[in-house]
Amino acid sequence: METVITVGDLKKTFTPKARKGIEVKALDGISFEVSRGEFFGLLGPNGAGKTTTIGILTTRVLPSSGVAQIEGIDVARDPVSVKRRIGVVPQVNNLDRSLTAKEILLFHAEYFGIPKHEREERAQRLLERFELSDRANEKINGFSGGMVQRLKIGRALMHDPAILFLDEPTTGLDPQSRRAMWELLTELNQKGLTILLTTHYMEEADQLCRRIAIIDHGKLLALDSPAQLKRSVPGGYLIELQIRGGANGTFSEALRSLTGVVEIKAENDRVRIYADRIEGLLANAMRLAGEQNVMVTDAHVSEPSLENLFLHLTGRSLRE
Ligand SMILES: Nc1ncnc2c1ncn2[C@@H]1O[C@H](COP(=O)(O)OP(=O)(O)OP(=O)(O)O)[C@@H](O)[C@H]1O
Ligand SMILES: [Mg+2]
Repeated sequence: METVITVGDLKKTFTPKARKGIEVKALDGISFEVSRGEFFGLLGPNGAGKTTTIGILTTRVLPSSGVAQIEGIDVARDPVSVKRRIGVVPQVNNLDRSLTAKEILLFHAEYFGIPKHEREERAQRLLERFELSDRANEKINGFSGGMVQRLKIGRALMHDPAILFLDEPTTGLDPQSRRAMWELLTELNQKGLTILLTTHYMEEADQLCRRIAIIDHGKLLALDSPAQLKRSVPGGYLIELQIRGGANGTFSEALRSLTGVVEIKAENDRVRIYADRIEGLLANAMRLAGEQNVMVTDAHVSEPSLENLFLHLTGRSLRE
């Protein structure tokens, strides 16, 4: 399969003036490749390095070291050639407020040197496809979050790129607009567009992406298909117990011997029980707690999920 995005041991250190020489390691050596036609996800919490990765791949940010290539072209060496091949939907709304929706599209295409008649035709087609035709001649002030997002994607596609980068495309959208966005992106991918998307919603990555790279603190923690990633959580099932005063070693040891338990992780006032069988386990754990005078104040059972995996890898939740 043809590789269209190559990232190799990529590092980026910022030295913000405001912090007087204290370095921020935004990317600490991440590597991955994306094939033509793939739907690839970068999943990670705030500050993980998602926007920095997209920034480098889209020529907006210079890497400190490592490899970043689009269709074999080094992004830092030949940004002009790279820009022609990619469409970018940034995290922020950077649409020009003084232009109408249609003008935004036309202006972008003109910038990329698309001939006039073609610009018109493409703008018309994209406005229709993204259900913006009836608002084509309006400025974007009154547009909903979903409309702004669709217009940003339309603009990114005006010069017919082979690869689309989307930085958290559904953050701030209501559930219905999010679903509509998922359908739209799936359709674009099915028509052959390679997509790299960042998100901190695991359901989104799970639903859309063929492969997901989980990143945190500028490092790649895991990279695989959603199904394989979920399978890599020890046991799969997770029971979380909240314990008043914290768990003691004897309780953790006793839990370990219960049927189905694969791994126990205890820290502060929480015990996590990773298990491959869930039947009766919560009841047995509660019985043990009772016997040992351990006070369980909350219990939560979850199925195999990317959230479980992130928790397993980092000890932290991906949810805010
Ligand atoms: N221009 C910059 N100057 C200084 N530090 C920066 C700059 N850009 C990013 N950083 C820092 O680099 C780290 C990674 O930031 P980045 O924006 O890539 O994360 P992110 O995964 O996109 O987070 P979010 O989910 O909040 O968008 C953070 O610690 C951030 O503060
Ligand atoms: Mg970001």
